[in-house]
Amino acid sequence: MGRIVTVANQKGGVGKTTTAVNLGASLAAAEKTTLVIDLDPQANATSGLGIDPRPLELSSYDVLIGSREPVDTILPSSIDYLDIMPANRDLAGAEIELVDAQQREKRLNQAITAIRVQYDYIIVDCPPSLGLLTLNALCAADAVIVPLQCEYYALEGLGRLMETISIIRKDLNPTLEVDGVLLTMYDARTSLSDQVAQEVRENFDGRVFQTVIPRNVRLSESPSFGKPVLLYDARSKGSLGYLAFAKEYLEIGH
Ligand SMILES: Nc1ncnc2c1ncn2[C@@H]1O[C@H](COP(=O)(O)OP(=O)(O)OP(=O)(O)O)[C@@H](O)[C@H]1O
Ligand SMILES: [Mg+2]
Repeated sequence: MGRIVTVANQKGGVGKTTTAVNLGASLAAAEKTTLVIDLDPQANATSGLGIDPRPLELSSYDVLIGSREPVDTILPSSIDYLDIMPANRDLAGAEIELVDAQQREKRLNQAITAIRVQYDYIIVDCPPSLGLLTLNALCAADAVIVPLQCEYYALEGLGRLMETISIIRKDLNPTLEVDGVLLTMYDARTSLSDQVAQEVRENFDGRVFQTVIPRNVRLSESPSFGKPVLLYDARSKGSLGYLAFAKEYLEIGH
């Protein structure tokens, strides 16, 4: 049965989508059948995997609303072993439309139970908020990966995210684990990156992945070509970073 991993941090631009897409691609390269679920109305994971969200008639929105089965929305990516449940603009309305729905935080969980057996990993990309979409992703997940940018204020908001995770554990998803914090956009040329990395390791003793994702221009270029970095420039530091992260993730038994 597949492991469902949510990539969450309500802070914007910390590397959630880059992590979801490139961890997904790296796991697929290791021949793990992987599904990326795009739960962000910005649809960056969708376009980053080469699918234009604009003409899409079906998306993760339809699954959340309950009008479609996951299988109706899932598309193959250009990488073997990697599928995507895309997002489109419809998703922007989901938070409001689901406000009065019963078990509104459990929509994704209920919908994807049936497809778990088809994948080794299901990776959910979240929007930068702690709204209903992120709550659905956390309720559906076995575990969370929290990307943190090696910048000032990296830890800002993290307390609230951890509180939210505790509440969800108590009320809605008792088995939710925090797999760990992933340091992203590490810049070896600045001492700031080191300071932040050290501070984060002190705060999250033992729960920070060994692998650190470097700041690498190939990672920021690849989405505009609709490719994970592994297809865009396999030997770049960014690509090697995410391959190393996938290896670490597999080795620690996830
Ligand atoms: N390691 C990296 N090196 C260089 N650029 C990066 C790296 N990781 C992410 N980026 C770039 O930084 C920007 C933000 O990254 P990303 O979209 O993954 O963050 P996000 O947390 O998903 O953002 P949002 O909160 O808007 O969804 C993007 O332009 C991305 O290409
Ligand atoms: Mg994103």
